[in-house]
Amino acid sequence: MTPGHPSSGRPVLSRRQLLAGSGVATAGLVAAAAGTAGVAAAATSGGGGSDTVPFDGPHQAGIATPEPARLVFAAFDVTTADRAGLVDLLATWSAAAARMAGGRALTGPSGAQAPPPDSGEALDLPPSRLTVTVGFGPSLFDDRFGLADRRPAALVDLPAFPGDALDPRRSHGDLCLQVCADDALVAFHAVRNLTRLALGAATVRYVQVGFGRTASPANGGESPRNLLGFKDGTDNLDPADEAALRTYVWVDERSDQPWMAGGSYLVARRIRIHLDTWDRTTLGHQERTVGRHKVSGAPLGGRREHDPVNLAALDASGTPVIPVDAHIRVASPATNHGQAILRRGYSFADGVDPASGELDAGLFFVCFQKDPRRQFVPIQEHLADQDALAAYLVHTGSGIFACPPGTGPGRTWATGLR
Ligand code: HEM
Repeated sequence: MTPGHPSSGRPVLSRRQLLAGSGVATAGLVAAAAGTAGVAAAATSGGGGSDTVPFDGPHQAGIATPEPARLVFAAFDVTTADRAGLVDLLATWSAAAARMAGGRALTGPSGAQAPPPDSGEALDLPPSRLTVTVGFGPSLFDDRFGLADRRPAALVDLPAFPGDALDPRRSHGDLCLQVCADDALVAFHAVRNLTRLALGAATVRYVQVGFGRTASPANGGESPRNLLGFKDGTDNLDPADEAALRTYVWVDERSDQPWMAGGSYLVARRIRIHLDTWDRTTLGHQERTVGRHKVSGAPLGGRREHDPVNLAALDASGTPVIPVDAHIRVASPATNHGQAILRRGYSFADGVDPASGELDAGLFFVCFQKDPRRQFVPIQEHLADQDALAAYLVHTGSGIFACPPGTGPGRTWATGLR
């Protein structure tokens, strides 16, 4: 299947056709932001075929919705001086993201002296399952916007983990946008145009492009592979399992910040893999490091990818079949007080590290959870201490963000911060 073209065989209207037929070409985007709910509703009901992911809903799209093939993740520093500017930005972004998720070009004031309201590179492309997910970093709740009393306790500053080598230019941020789509151009177009709309209110801090997603069991079948060459996502949380999502992913009304109910916490880690070293290890060593067979994806001791993991199994000499330091054992809920996370990472390849001459490539690890204090933080502490895979990894970027609940009539991304 060609990325960006649905397999259904149904014709998909391009943004250009939608724009021409919708009669909204003259509606000002900036003006529309004030009435975001109407815009968002129009965008999600506007068609676009089976490759449109609804923007509105109790939860933001891009968390438990299926993972498209491509990622463009962007973090921003807010530059506007006051809360009103921040709220305007979020309402404008919310309306624009809804339009683009519906496969519609941005509209706004235009004329001989003004730049086109939409940069145009996605005009002929279908929605491509575009999702745009916003998150608020801890620094947004400092004293600039009077939001200190809205900071959720779960939005912790992540501790330093052993082995971290974080680059501040690839870390943190007041805001983030996680943009996913089956077409890299559609994803980039969304980030580019949201950055344009932020002019005077926020500047982009870093952008990370990703491909080759961590799958979830809901996709069915075999998981795609990460740059280790191993299948990734086999034992991920299943987004179709609503009870599991309620337990591990969605913030509920008991949160210290009621505005976060229905939201989730995103942790992003740019993890470089020392591929040159990994590629010099034997197949047996690689499989013992992960705890799974490379080709089939089966747990050691099993035959098929989705065979159950038996952490108690011993071989004839009494040695654990899945080594004590295997990644899947050290990351497993069974060795982490029952805690689990929804992983949604993408591989990255950013050229050559000038210092070493080696490939700068790895996994842009993204996970969602109800409370990072009980989930990502202790799991990562455990991995940094005991995971055999850690010898091949270095964490070079880091971010934590509170993702508010979804949008709908009367609700935009700005609602919780008004
Ligand atoms: C470059 C970094 C990483 C690579 C290449 C990687 C790779 C893998 C692979 C191949 C699997 C087995 C297949 C699967 O169930 O998905 C796996 C499982 C898993 N990984 Fe990672 N991983 C990385 C980092 C992390 C980090 C930072 C965390 C959490 C802090 C994590 C948490 C997990 C969990 C929870 C599982 C499932 C364990 C189970 O229940 O069996 N991984 N990972």
